[in-house]
Amino acid sequence: MENFIVTTTRKPDSAQEIFAEEISQKLGGKFIQREDFSFDLLKKNHDAENILLVKKNSLSIVTAEGELFFHPNTAHLRIKNLRGGEGDRLIDALKISDGSKVLDCTLGLGSDAIVESFIVGAAGKVVALEINPLIAEIVSHGLKNFSDDSPHILEAMRRVKVINTDCGEFLKTCADNSFDVVYFDPMFRRPIKKSSGLNPIRPLADNRPLAKEIIAEACRVAKFRVVLKEHNGSSEFVRLGFKIVDGGKYSSVAFGVIDKNFFPSVDLNSQAKCKTSVS
Ligand SMILES: C[S@@+](CC[C@H](N)C(=O)[O-])C[C@H]1O[C@@H](n2cnc3c(N)ncnc32)[C@H](O)[C@@H]1O
Repeated sequence: MENFIVTTTRKPDSAQEIFAEEISQKLGGKFIQREDFSFDLLKKNHDAENILLVKKNSLSIVTAEGELFFHPNTAHLRIKNLRGGEGDRLIDALKISDGSKVLDCTLGLGSDAIVESFIVGAAGKVVALEINPLIAEIVSHGLKNFSDDSPHILEAMRRVKVINTDCGEFLKTCADNSFDVVYFDPMFRRPIKKSSGLNPIRPLADNRPLAKEIIAEACRVAKFRVVLKEHNGSSEFVRLGFKIVDGGKYSSVAFGVIDKNFFPSVDLNSQAKCKTSVS
């Protein structure tokens, strides 16, 4: 767990202070009274890299890259487009619909999970995993409490179930075929800096490449398919055994799929295990 403290805005009310105390006990960071200190001074005085900030109705994390807070971000526009009859690249790759069960292994800021949740509806299920406890906390809090959006988007947010865990460990606990699809959107091997929405997450996010063993477990747990998002041209698709299904020439990102009823010819351990799990 990274080195962080918990504090409030200047002049907090008592509910903020109580909540800040509770979060500090839950996550282990020390609660520090804000008084009139700047973030820089608080970090210096308490030798902290990051600050978990309790505001009146929301949480944020102050990192070296800026302030990270929950917002539906691109999910709002993507859902608007879907409602208008347009497609969505992720949903097309996942091939999910009303009632589907999705395991999203990389929650991040939650935009993809919200769109998945909108599509699968109340009859479906979206479980989203995040290894970093601070990211998991602020996004989970935002999904439950954010209120400035349309009812169908808020309902989609409320349905996402967030778990603070390593996806590799979680997958080991899942039964065979227990989710329809398993999705990975890891931090790209070559970051796209212009996607500035993700910049504040970088100092906190887990940047390790996905292990082949994790993909093999995902193949066991997914009933239909495993999907990977990476930067266009990434060698991760071949290394991990994914077939690119959407890698638009002019797009910076691409989607790869391991389909349980169709195996690309590249012979990788992960695919071998995938085959075994369905036979
Ligand atoms: C690129 S972001 C995901 C963005 C997300 N799809 C969205 O719509 O906002 C990747 C996230 O996955 C998390 N992550 C990386 N490795 C993980 C693991 N083994 N288990 C769970 N989460 C992980 C990172 O900490 C980071 O927050």
